[in-house]
Amino acid sequence: MAVQVRIRVILLGFWLAAVAACGGSDPASSGAANAPTPSLYVIKFPHVTAPATPKGQMAERFKQLAEERFPGRVRVEVYPSAQLMEDTEAIEALAFGEVQMIATSLSLYDRLTPKFQVFDLPFLFPNLPAVEQFQRSAAGRELLGSLSEHGITGLQFWHNGMKQFSGPRPIVTPQDAAGLKFRVMESDILQAQIEAVGGSPQKMAFGEVYQALQTGTVDAQENTWSNIYSSKFYEVQPYITESNHGYIGYFVGVNSAFWQSLPTDLRAGLEATLAEVTEWGNVRSEAINIEDRQRIVESGRSEITVLTPEQLAAWQTAMRPVWDQFRDAIGAELVDAALRSAQ
Ligand code: LMR
Repeated sequence: MAVQVRIRVILLGFWLAAVAACGGSDPASSGAANAPTPSLYVIKFPHVTAPATPKGQMAERFKQLAEERFPGRVRVEVYPSAQLMEDTEAIEALAFGEVQMIATSLSLYDRLTPKFQVFDLPFLFPNLPAVEQFQRSAAGRELLGSLSEHGITGLQFWHNGMKQFSGPRPIVTPQDAAGLKFRVMESDILQAQIEAVGGSPQKMAFGEVYQALQTGTVDAQENTWSNIYSSKFYEVQPYITESNHGYIGYFVGVNSAFWQSLPTDLRAGLEATLAEVTEWGNVRSEAINIEDRQRIVESGRSEITVLTPEQLAAWQTAMRPVWDQFRDAIGAELVDAALRSAQ
């Protein structure tokens, strides 16, 4: 009798130890038929553009595919149009783990790394295929790891498109920019670029731009066709210049500690899903920008100037000093690698 009791106590001990090793779940759920419910991981993903933009569409598609492929294991909460926070707050929130994923413009990281400024050297990349080529190169892929010391892991680059200038009067020559207040993203190189053509740069969050243009707090701005259309800038900017002078694309980053805490299969599955969404969306981004340009033409609200090769060359010459100003900080090797891809 005493022996039987001792055996039961020993068995109970083994059982309790096994349950504790499995995460201490209820005895009723410890059998194979009642395996413990896997944890639900929530990915908060704030961004600032409209749902119809390249970024908006990619974020939604990532959510849809991730939740379909990992039912009950992951929920992706996408907050578009700066409804949760603006970009610079989002970078900080990601580093602190308050949000888990962001896709913020590459122009906004100069406080954390000078390297991404390579994407903002005016006229370095003539078009999206040239950017794509660089981002796929070894030097480009390496950039994804640039923020690891800040607790941020880069997974992908997403495209928006090439930037155009818009303003209250035709901006055809660099001299036309003189004296205008231009909204720029929170970036020193973009500030220098506007100063190079005699404009007055004003750093401002994306969510504030429409009202600033409408009330005249700023006169002009630079952005992609898709942002100019979806955020209705064209309604308050009667002139747009098709300058293609720079690129807007996104660093898709996750909080490193959160990402490492995911079960291996889930992490690998989400990374594969994100890679698939990137392929899908980066091809569409060009088409979305072309469609939105056409919508602006059809609206009749804004007159578009297409620059002649001579006019374009004048802009390139005027902005070229920005390269000398930033080349060393960015790293000459990186700039050369980008140039090789762009040719
Ligand atoms: C801007 O602030 O103009 C853009 O970076 C917005 C965006 O995310 O495309």
